[in-house]
Amino acid sequence: MKFIKSLSTAAAIAALMVAAPASAKNFKIAVGDSGGSSQEATGIGFVNALEELSGGKHTGTLFLNGQLGSEQDTVNDAAIGTLDMSLLAINNITPFSPSVGVFTLPYVILSLEDAETLTNGPIGQELTENTINDAGVRIVAWTYTGFRVLTNSKKPVKSVADLKGLVIRVPKNEIMIDTYKAWGISPTPMAWSETFAGLQTKVVDGQDNPYTTINAMKFYEVQKYVTNIRYIFSIEPLIISEQVFQELSAEDQAIVLEAGKAATAASATFLREKEAEIKQILLENGMEISDPENNEEEFITLATEAVWPKFYDSIGGIEKMNAVLTAIGRDPV
Ligand code: MLT
Repeated sequence: MKFIKSLSTAAAIAALMVAAPASAKNFKIAVGDSGGSSQEATGIGFVNALEELSGGKHTGTLFLNGQLGSEQDTVNDAAIGTLDMSLLAINNITPFSPSVGVFTLPYVILSLEDAETLTNGPIGQELTENTINDAGVRIVAWTYTGFRVLTNSKKPVKSVADLKGLVIRVPKNEIMIDTYKAWGISPTPMAWSETFAGLQTKVVDGQDNPYTTINAMKFYEVQKYVTNIRYIFSIEPLIISEQVFQELSAEDQAIVLEAGKAATAASATFLREKEAEIKQILLENGMEISDPENNEEEFITLATEAVWPKFYDSIGGIEKMNAVLTAIGRDPV
């Protein structure tokens, strides 16, 4: 034991593998987004590390573009152990584990660095434990996807008033629904797997998601105008069924968790290296990108004043909110 402690984690895992070989497993991983997305970058990072750390014994297969069902359905499937893993936006876990809603509250996370600080620190650890208890799934990696910008097919939007007359799709997430209500419109909740078709058939005029997601999903084919609102920095965890995790040997559990760390790092690298290039691709595909007027002030004030207090209880109380704000160097409420 002393010997193992003195090794790096990867070396320790390798030593344990020699001592206690486990049966090979191919992890089936649902992915909400398509190829080229941040989610895929995390998935590839995980599978590569998993294969390397297990000496080729364990593998993983990504099922892209919602092939295995809507993101919220995959949480249920993982909870009952019929699905091994899923990569999905955190807003689609919130209905099953309300405390993770703190990462979806508008204008809490203001940068990639904030997202990294929170997910890699005690708050992220606590939320991981909460999802195990509430939803039967364990977070093993975090995808950092960038700010959810607003897109629509009808007109440039620069102010809250410009939203009037637009039908905007949102995930089935109370915090996001209430945010648009604070901005004066009633949005349309719709599963992610139905969103492209909803935009194409004009059941809805717009939606919000990060640049990398808009590009991977080819939303530029059905959307024209982009507004750089920064209300949510999208965090998209890789979850594993707790039932499946508990069936693994201790050595394999350690491998999965270590591969998760490598996947989180791969996601941050992907965003840092690709986001600017991807914004350019959206422009080349005919999208018009603009900033909200007055540094987004009206969007920020309306959303934070109406939405934050309403969800303090569900995220664990005002103390939790203040712990999050303090962790990223902001003043408590
Ligand atoms: C959603 O809008 O439901 C999700 O953010 C989509 C995604 O996972 O990229």
